[in-house]
Amino acid sequence: MKALILSGGTGTRLRPISYTNAKQLLPLANKPIIVYLIEKVVKAGIHDIGIIVGETQEQVKQTLGNGDQWGVSITYIYQEGSLGLAHAVRTASGFIDGSDFVMILGDNIFSMGLESVIENFYTYRANTAVLLDRVTNPSQYGVAVVNDNEITALCEKPKEYISDLVLTGVYVFDKSIFTAIGRIKPSRRGELEITDAIQNQLTSGGRVTYELVQGWWKDTGTLQDLLEANRLTFDDIENIELPDKDNQGIILDDSLMTGKILTGNNVYLKNSRIIGPVHIDDDAVIIDSTIGPYTAIGKRCQIMGSTIENNIVLNDASIMNVPKKIFGSLIGRNVSLKGSENEVTMLFLGDDTVIEL
Ligand code: TTP
Repeated sequence: MKALILSGGTGTRLRPISYTNAKQLLPLANKPIIVYLIEKVVKAGIHDIGIIVGETQEQVKQTLGNGDQWGVSITYIYQEGSLGLAHAVRTASGFIDGSDFVMILGDNIFSMGLESVIENFYTYRANTAVLLDRVTNPSQYGVAVVNDNEITALCEKPKEYISDLVLTGVYVFDKSIFTAIGRIKPSRRGELEITDAIQNQLTSGGRVTYELVQGWWKDTGTLQDLLEANRLTFDDIENIELPDKDNQGIILDDSLMTGKILTGNNVYLKNSRIIGPVHIDDDAVIIDSTIGPYTAIGKRCQIMGSTIENNIVLNDASIMNVPKKIFGSLIGRNVSLKGSENEVTMLFLGDDTVIEL
């Protein structure tokens, strides 16, 4: 079996951060989303991984390399344009080369392993197996109607209620998916939809089975969902020892730490309070500040005189003397936030920036 992870797309809903960052590389508890997915693939015993890339291909390649660090082989497959999930699968047909494969959306994250959905695929001799979750707002998703172990119908964003079970970002396919993709046409939004291809398999007498999400699943396509995924990921990190003074270069100068706290190397904390769960990455400096809970601070960040909670702060950001608590935010790489005693607010904001003052 092979694996295909989709890391192309446009990420419109995550602008402006997705102008300069592949959204699949955005960190949860300071580790890129796609790395969690690779780890799950490796744990399921799959060693041949294809990654669909688009405009952000250089970043993705630079971050993941050839797979050596996980003892696997990574092949990058360039998809020209963001023309749909089924189009991405079709683009990878040379790499898949007739194998069975698990496909994962590179911006989705879940707590369970891939083993049980793969097992279902083989147990029920299915052409396709998918991972389904129960949600309260199914009309936003690809929805599945099920009978016993099989899916009987699928509908992308149905206007009327047909089921509360929705497709998550995990699929297992045999090679018949390529025939099905060959039979479908682009949808109204101009994309080749994977839901249509699976529905086509059903219409042609194919067998589609499913597994229900155990634990949690999150599509990180929006800021709120990304922050929620960050919180869920932090909650799943277990058995963290509080770093002590002798730990890997962390310097605790009059600082207090409570709860789950992870740090990189050469972290300097002075006169600050860190309330876990928190991850502070290498070479970060935090002075006179309160950080956490549910906050990830990237490499080389400098934070002074500020309070930051439920946040993702990317590498090299600097946050200085901001008088109000910064909450529920994503701060991009190299961003500089400064408080001021002035009566005026001075801003230098790029396109599509969102600020709530
Ligand atoms: P989506 O989040 O559905 O699409 P998108 O990335 O274009 O984002 P937005 O809707 O905000 O504009 O994509 C799910 C995953 O699949 C994501 O990791 C990107 C990837 N993808 C591809 O690789 N190729 C594609 O053609 C599409 C549509 C998505």
